[in-house]
Amino acid sequence: MLKQALPVTPQLDGLVTGIRSEVDRGGDWRRTAERVAGALRRDLPRPEALAGDLAEGQDGPRSRLLHVEPDGAFSIQAIVWPAGRITPVHDHVSWCVFGVIQGALDEELFTLADGGDVLVPAGRTTSATGAVTGFAPPGDLHRVANPGDRTAISIHVYGTDLSRIGSSALRYYDLPVRP
Ligand SMILES: [Fe+2]
Repeated sequence: MLKQALPVTPQLDGLVTGIRSEVDRGGDWRRTAERVAGALRRDLPRPEALAGDLAEGQDGPRSRLLHVEPDGAFSIQAIVWPAGRITPVHDHVSWCVFGVIQGALDEELFTLADGGDVLVPAGRTTSATGAVTGFAPPGDLHRVANPGDRTAISIHVYGTDLSRIGSSALRYYDLPVRP
């Protein structure tokens, strides 16, 4: 039986339709992430459009599920990043796309070495407001931070049902980083 979809914020109608049409085309995860990134680029919400859905200030929830497709094919989540917030190093259960709609985010990529006992830096990018990035496992080991002094907001799309599994992270890696 299909699950009831969460109510869609009216401002997200176009985005949801665009992502759905790209996901429905099928193909491998990497191609799907690239196409969904295109859909998010075309319809990247403005923070004002989501004001009613997003937490204000430091005390509210740090993530908000904005949409889950009824068949679980994808989920859209907003994440509010207080200044200085950084995630643990992690990988993912599915393809991922994220776009920054306020502030900027730093992404550090890693690979595993020494039989999985050490993290090795594999690149670093800064995404400014308006930047959209898509990726898929493998090669998705990263941590993300808000290096700025004001709150950042990002929109994430994952190829899974976040209302069912709760998190897009597959594993966390609390390991030394080789300089
Ligand atoms: Fe991630």
